[in-house]
Amino acid sequence: MKKPTVVMFGVGAMGSIIARMLLERDAEIVGAVARSTVGKTLGEVSSLEGDAARVVVEADAAEVLARTKPDLVVMTIASYMEDVKEPVLTCLRHGANVISLAEENLYSWHTSPEDTAEIDRVARENGVTYTCSGHQDGYWVQLVATLMGTAHRIDEVRGKASWNVDDFGPELARDQQVGDTAEEFAAWLGTAERPPTFGRNSLHAVAAASGLTVEHSTTETEPVFATEDMRCAALDTTVPAGRVIGFTDIDVVTTKEGPRLVLEMTGKVYSPGEADSNAWVLKGEPDLDLENQVLPTHLTTCATLVNRVPQVLNAEPGYVTVAGLPRLQYMGGPISSHLA
Ligand SMILES: NC(=O)c1ccc[n+]([C@@H]2O[C@H](COP(=O)([O-])OP(=O)(O)OC[C@H]3O[C@@H](n4cnc5c(N)ncnc54)[C@H](OP(=O)(O)O)[C@@H]3O)[C@@H](O)[C@H]2O)c1
Repeated sequence: MKKPTVVMFGVGAMGSIIARMLLERDAEIVGAVARSTVGKTLGEVSSLEGDAARVVVEADAAEVLARTKPDLVVMTIASYMEDVKEPVLTCLRHGANVISLAEENLYSWHTSPEDTAEIDRVARENGVTYTCSGHQDGYWVQLVATLMGTAHRIDEVRGKASWNVDDFGPELARDQQVGDTAEEFAAWLGTAERPPTFGRNSLHAVAAASGLTVEHSTTETEPVFATEDMRCAALDTTVPAGRVIGFTDIDVVTTKEGPRLVLEMTGKVYSPGEADSNAWVLKGEPDLDLENQVLPTHLTTCATLVNRVPQVLNAEPGYVTVAGLPRLQYMGGPISSHLA
């Protein structure tokens, strides 16, 4: 099997780590698309070495795709359907499979059903697959669904997770409203345009992975404010005391079959000594729990996506969520050795 060819769509904090991991799994990077870094090489932007270091970042995705005809596009540009839909459709129409980190697309059948159906249709028409993976795939879906699979009866599954805005790039820091005043945050929260929470899409994926039917979803969001002036590396700025450094969402999903799913997720700029967390408690027969003591979320994000690559290349055409892919597994060898 030949090495898969890949176009990197987005070469920021995550795209750069993923590109390095893909090269270490013998993928061939044949193109790169971004905005502010157009004209620079992946050697300059992402510190890659070898042939990939000479790939030049370009602005016109359609032109790059038509020229390079990649097997796969790795998209790390944005979080929400409204921002990734057109770029994803462009890739699919060019006959490329796509794997992204767009949090909403982890499971977007409930939050953006029409757009999801359109992506599914275009993917099928072009014989390719679109999947979103990332940290949630492993830690908020697969581990949780496996824990649930060891229970006889479930009343509630409740997760609590946190991650550091500064482990990622400016895109995510802006999503977390870092730097807002209390008034700006309240105005954003109050708009009908506020996109779905990462927690909601993750719990919908847990439900899908567990054969549960989503009945109702609610979210409560609380801003976290800087108690003193704080450096935000992702935005290369100082957030004055009293401004927003991120927020906590509490998502609750009820299911027709009974289990109630809850996730309290905090994404904020950390103070010294704070660390990422992931803990889940299951109430039922029996009561169960799991907790991760060490969690470099930015690295698990990228490694999980890369481990999903052969499954996405092997998958049936369409919008295939991680709930519909085989079990997440370590890739012991080059990607090509895992292709059907
Ligand atoms: N699912 C997960 O587990 C997970 C984990 C981490 C991050 N994410 C998501 O992944 C995304 C990327 O994160 P990051 O930390 O890598 O962000 P980042 O450092 O800000 O990088 C974003 C990259 O995408 C490019 N870009 C953005 N919009 C674009 C567009 N419309 N067309 C072309 N290029 C575009 C940017 O180009 P310029 O710099 O040239 O503008 C940059 O190269 C974020 O939305 C984040 O929420 C998901």
